Amino acid sequence: MGKVIGVINTKGGVGKTTLATSLASEFSRRGYKTLLIDYDSQSSATHLLGFYPEDFIGTEFDITNIFREEPVKEIYIKENLYLIASNSKLKEYAESGKSGKEYYLSDFVQGNYIEGSKGIKEEYDIVIIDSEGGGGTLETSVQIASDYIIIPIRPTILDETGTLLTLKKLIENIKIFKLKDLTLLGFIAIDFDKRAKEPLERYSALKVELPEIISSVKFLKTSVPPDELFLPELYRRAVWSKAFANNMLIHDYIEKYETYNKDVLLTLENIGNKILERMKR
Ligand SMILES: Nc1ncnc2c1ncn2[C@@H]1O[C@H](COP(=O)(O)OP(=O)(O)OP(=O)(O)O)[C@@H](O)[C@H]1O
Ligand SMILES: [Mg+2]
Repeated sequence: MGKVIGVINTKGGVGKTTLATSLASEFSRRGYKTLLIDYDSQSSATHLLGFYPEDFIGTEFDITNIFREEPVKEIYIKENLYLIASNSKLKEYAESGKSGKEYYLSDFVQGNYIEGSKGIKEEYDIVIIDSEGGGGTLETSVQIASDYIIIPIRPTILDETGTLLTLKKLIENIKIFKLKDLTLLGFIAIDFDKRAKEPLERYSALKVELPEIISSVKFLKTSVPPDELFLPELYRRAVWSKAFANNMLIHDYIEKYETYNKDVLLTLENIGNKILERMKR
């Protein structure tokens, strides 16, 4: 049975899509049958994989089918890698007045025990969900549908408030929606400029603040002790935005154009090892 990892941060542009797509690429290359779900109406992950989101509206690939309890087809990307694409209609549906709207993604992914339907995770080893920011229904839905949560963080003053808010919202939702098994897998600093003073200071501060908050909330499950939650950092490198701009997964871009940046892939491999280890516990 597949494990579902939600990638969340309320703040925009902190690296959710970068991380979700790179992890999906990393796991699929290791032979895990991996599904990436784009649960952001801006559809960045769908764009990154080379598709026009609006082409899927009203088709069997339309993610909003989940709100009518109809199936959504995955798109085959490459060996072991599949995508549930997004489109701009997602937000309208997710934020409609429909009661229980936060549960539709979970029913689709995890199955619905009332109707006895199986979730799509049964067909995969790993499901990664790229969330929309903003702290709204889409983000809440990703939390409800996930077994594990990873929070990418950009260590700057502006983004720090966003990260604290993300954690606060997560804790609130665990209570409201009774997500007793949801486990915080870790934080990853993204686009981390280790040569500048501010990010280094902000990162050190977060490494104290976040574990303190987590330790004070007894019902928040973590994969490792709170001060060990920080996964290896992804440093600021131009290759990330170049891969993004060329609609290519980071592995494909580096292997095709910039083999001298292979150390980035080694860091991703290291992150992948740690995540797999943490999910076994
Ligand atoms: N390590 C890195 N070095 C340099 N640039 C990076 C790095 N990681 C991510 N970026 C760039 O940061 C930008 C924002 O990242 P991304 O789109 O993943 O954020 P997001 O949280 O998904 O944003 P949104 O909230 O809009 O969905 C992208 O242009 C990406 O290429
Ligand atoms: Mg994104």
